[in-house]
Amino acid sequence: MAEKIASARISVESSALLKELNDSLPFDRELYYEDIRGSRAHAYMLMKQGIISPEDYEAIEEGLKRILEEIESGEFRFDGGEEDIHMAIESRLTSMIGDAGKRLHTARSRNDQVAVDFRMYVLAKSAQIGGLLLELISSLLELSREHRDVLLPGMTHLQHAQPINFAYHMLAYASMFRRDYERFVDSCKRNDYSPLGCAALAGTPHPIERKITAERLGFRAPTLNCLDSVSDRDFALEILFNIATMMMHISRMSEEFIIWSSSEFSFIRLSDKHATGSSIMPQKKNPDIPELLRGKSGRAYGNLMALLTVMKGLPLAYNKDTQEDKEGVFDSVKTATLSLMVLREMIEEMEVLAENMEAACAKGHLSATDLADHLVTEVGLPFRDAYHIVGNVVNHAESLGKDISQLTVEELREVDERIDEAALSILDNRVCMNARESEGGTGSISTGRQIDSMSEWLESERERFEKDLSRLFSR
Ligand code: ARG
Repeated sequence: MAEKIASARISVESSALLKELNDSLPFDRELYYEDIRGSRAHAYMLMKQGIISPEDYEAIEEGLKRILEEIESGEFRFDGGEEDIHMAIESRLTSMIGDAGKRLHTARSRNDQVAVDFRMYVLAKSAQIGGLLLELISSLLELSREHRDVLLPGMTHLQHAQPINFAYHMLAYASMFRRDYERFVDSCKRNDYSPLGCAALAGTPHPIERKITAERLGFRAPTLNCLDSVSDRDFALEILFNIATMMMHISRMSEEFIIWSSSEFSFIRLSDKHATGSSIMPQKKNPDIPELLRGKSGRAYGNLMALLTVMKGLPLAYNKDTQEDKEGVFDSVKTATLSLMVLREMIEEMEVLAENMEAACAKGHLSATDLADHLVTEVGLPFRDAYHIVGNVVNHAESLGKDISQLTVEELREVDERIDEAALSILDNRVCMNARESEGGTGSISTGRQIDSMSEWLESERERFEKDLSRLFSR
C-alpha cells in the first residue's frame, strides 16, 4: 500500500465501514476542475513568493495539467483508496513528479482548499443559473408580445375575479424570475472573495500573498478572516435558498399550466413532447413535465433545510460535518438547471388557446367591480350602495342564466332604476381590462409599458452579464 499522504499518526488500515462513511471522493469528484485550478494558482503563488523553486512550480503545473486531461478523458483512476478529490489529485501528482508534488500542500490545508473549490463551484453555478433565467425571461417576453391582448379571467381564490390579459399574467412570472436572477447575482457579489491561503484555521507563518491567488482565480479579493473562511458555508446556503425560491416560482407556474391544460380549463395545449400517455387509459395525455417541475421543489427545499441543520451547532472552525454540504448543492444545482431548460422549452412549444381564455371570461361576472365604480363616478351613488346594487344585478343575471356582461339595459334597470345606458359598455370585459391603466395594471397600454421596461432591463442585463458574470464560469 502506498504511503498515506494525510495520516502521519495513523498506522493501521482504516475500517471499510469508516471509509464508507468518511470518504467524499464518490461525490466530490465533481469538484476536480476547481481543485486543479485552485492548486495551480496556489503553486504559482508559492513560486512567486520564493516558497518553492521555479522548477518545482513547472513540474507541478505540468503535472496538474496532465491530471486534468486524464480526468476529462476518463483515464484517471479514482480507485486508489483516497478519501477525497483533494487527496486523489495530490497523490497522483506525487506519483507523477515526486517531491515537487509533496511541496504543493505548503501553506495550505484541505480546509481552505475545499472552501475555495466549493466557492468557485457555487459562483460558477450561480452565474450559469442566472444566464438560464435571462433566457427564460426572454421567452416569457416573447410569449407576452405574441399574446398581448388575449383576455383571460384573473383569479383570486381560484375564482373568477377581474379580466386581465395573458401577457400581464406572464409578466407577473417574468418579474418573479427577474428577482430570482438578481438574488443569484447579488450572492455572487457577496461571495466573490477567496478563502485560499487561510490554511487550517489560523493563517500560516509562510510568507504567502493571498492577493495573487485571489486574482488568478478571478476573485475580487481575499476574504478578511481565516477562521470565518474555513468554517462557514453560508455561500452554499445562499445558492440553496436561491434555488429553493426559484423552484417555488417554477412550481407555481407549473401548477397553473397543469390546471390550464385540463379539459375544464383548456387554456393551453402542451406540446406532445411534454406530455405522456397512460398505460391503461388510451385517451390520456398527462402533464407529467409540469408535475415534475412542481414536485422538484420538494428536494430543493429539503437540501436547504438539511444544510441549515448541519451547520447550526458547529463550533469554529472546520468540522467533518461540513463535508455534508456538497451532495445537496450538487443535487439542487442539477435540479435547477434542468428545470429551467425544460420550463423554457415547454413555454416555447405550448399552444395558447386564446378563444377558450376569452370565452371563459363570459363566466363569473368579471365586470361587477367596474359596474359598481361606474355607479359611483357617473351616477353619483355612494360606493356601499353601488356595491349592493351590483350584488343584486349579479343575482338577477344568475336567475336569468346569464353573465352580467350579457344583460340588456332593461334587465339592468329591473334591478335599479338609476342604472344608466352607459353602464352597458362598462360591462364589456375588454373595456374593464383596458380601464386598468394605473401603473403596473393590466390595461393594454400599461402592459405594453411593462413589456418595454422588462425588455430594456433584459438587454442591459445581458450586457452586464457578459461583462461581469461570465468570468465566473469555471468551465
Ligand atoms: N473532504 C473534506 C470536505 O469535503 C475536505 C476537508 C477535509 N478537512 C479535514 N480537516 N478533514 O469537507
